[in-house]
Amino acid sequence: MACSDKYYIYHGLLLPSIAHSNESLKYMEKFQVQDNDIFAITYPKSGTTWMQEILPLILNGGDLTPVQTIPNWDRVPWLEETRAALVMDKIPAPRTMVSHMPYHLMPASFFSSKAKAIYVTRNPKDVVVSSFHFHQMASFLDDPGTFDEFVDKFLAGNVMFGKWTDHVKSWRNTDMGDRIMYITYEEMVQDLQGAVQRMSQFLGRELSAEALERVANHCCFKNMKTNPMSNYSLVPQDIMDSKKSSFLRKGTTGDWENHFSPELEAKFTSTIREDMKGTNIKLYWDEE
Ligand code: A3P
Repeated sequence: MACSDKYYIYHGLLLPSIAHSNESLKYMEKFQVQDNDIFAITYPKSGTTWMQEILPLILNGGDLTPVQTIPNWDRVPWLEETRAALVMDKIPAPRTMVSHMPYHLMPASFFSSKAKAIYVTRNPKDVVVSSFHFHQMASFLDDPGTFDEFVDKFLAGNVMFGKWTDHVKSWRNTDMGDRIMYITYEEMVQDLQGAVQRMSQFLGRELSAEALERVANHCCFKNMKTNPMSNYSLVPQDIMDSKKSSFLRKGTTGDWENHFSPELEAKFTSTIREDMKGTNIKLYWDEE
């Protein structure tokens, strides 16, 4: 463990110092996972905030009160962040948490528990675009430089939480059996109601047709963008400058086409394919 200016280094991973510390990582390591805990696991910019909206609504049968009154970071905290220790006791059971940790760095009690996890994957080309804009607006992250420069850093894993491919490989190769569900950001964009229904079935909390519709409607991009408890407008401008980019920026698939040159796209795709070689993980957006 070591500290740098903007990043705290943990097992070789860069974690933003604004929200990670010796204490928060120790808290995570010693965390006692309960059998009924529920985790949404993501590589950053893959739909974490979206899951922080969806999970409480599934678990409470579609009551909008918590998502309209509690900021997302307190409602469904990051296990590894400093706020976890402050809010964990206040979360009603079953507790919901998010994490960007790779599988092998989850707390020891996670592996022996019956806790469930939902792993959300997003097309890495859209992840890097989203992350690029996030780095421009978030003063606690390194300046991304040009888009091409940022893509190089992303491919090398010199960004928060390391290489996208390492993250995906770790979580797509677990021994969690039916305790883990995989879903993609793209599936959620295409059919949010269907995605919420699948998640609620996985969690054993099926919603009525009316509640399902309410949840999907509340969690659509347009509505979430106006929810101050979820759109990061509560964060001071000097930390997240919404004039440079909104946190809930576009909420679409395929924005990479507006950012990548053909050459950069070829380099990106071949590097990701090379990193994934030897695994039988299907990259569904890369089927050609
Ligand atoms: P964009 O920057 O492409 O718009 P995370 O929460 O993991 O940091 O991910 C942020 C990304 O998820 C952003 O992508 C954000 O707009 C998108 N997102 C958040 N809520 C969403 C929703 N309800 N529908 C679609 N995308 C959403």
